[in-house]
Amino acid sequence: MSVPAAPALPGTPGFATRPPARSTDGPIVELREVKRVYYKPDGSVLVEALRGVSLSIPAGQYVAIMGASGSGKSTMMNILGCLDRPTSGVYLLDGQDCVTMNDEEISAYRGRKIGFIFQAFNLIPELTVRENVEVPLFYQGVSPAERRRKAEAVLGMVGLDQRLGHRPSELSGGQQQRCAIARALVTSPVVLMADEPTGNLDSATGKAVLKIFNDLHKIGITIIMVTHAPEVAALCQRVVRLRDGVVESDTMQVPSTLE
Ligand SMILES: Nc1ncnc2c1ncn2[C@@H]1O[C@H](COP(=O)(O)OP(=O)(O)O)[C@@H](O)[C@H]1O
Ligand SMILES: [Mg+2]
Repeated sequence: MSVPAAPALPGTPGFATRPPARSTDGPIVELREVKRVYYKPDGSVLVEALRGVSLSIPAGQYVAIMGASGSGKSTMMNILGCLDRPTSGVYLLDGQDCVTMNDEEISAYRGRKIGFIFQAFNLIPELTVRENVEVPLFYQGVSPAERRRKAEAVLGMVGLDQRLGHRPSELSGGQQQRCAIARALVTSPVVLMADEPTGNLDSATGKAVLKIFNDLHKIGITIIMVTHAPEVAALCQRVVRLRDGVVESDTMQVPSTLE
């Protein structure tokens, strides 16, 4: 398998080269004593997936979330990504309390602040690459011409400008993941969240994806990424380990360079 072409550096015309606009100077995300309980249909407790997690992440940080399977990583990412709500505790996203927002408010706010990348890509099979990337802008009421311009700019940045009219099934796994990254970036989010973004990729393709993350970190985007791989976590500035629904360790480190 050939190594995918290196993505264009940020600075591609039409793509922001400055850190995104913030509402506050405080942390980008802040969890305070967050608990998430999954219940059985009869209302009894099934699992306490998060048992009191507190975490504060400042703007621009590149953070790895690690921990054994079942430790609560995806549960936490889904709360951070506003795809789920805590059972109790506080979640502030860029200074705003997400727990008290209603569903409509939270999806609009999430759309402005967060780019979320799923391990399984979650692209829409019927849409082309460009159309998939335009979807978040469509929901924001952006005009067709502007949607097209922004989607093409960000697809250029991830090296997919030659694949605009392809459907996801006509792409390799790495190209699908780069399309998913483009979709997450097209709204110029404050924070990029990714649940095992390289988990389904071979190592060369995973490296190309991590190169894009490094470039995004350099321009000031906050990145929070779940990973199982120590060599991937080594690229980050901070490693937060979960164990049985609590933070087991939280350490700063000097990031290793991507070879
Ligand atoms: N939707 C759900 N319903 C019930 N239990 C769940 C659900 N999602 C996760 N869990 C349970 O919560 C715990 C944490 O899961 P998860 O957050 O997916 O862990 P990780 O991503 O670290 O593997 C596990 O015990 C898992 O079985
Ligand atoms: Mg998981």
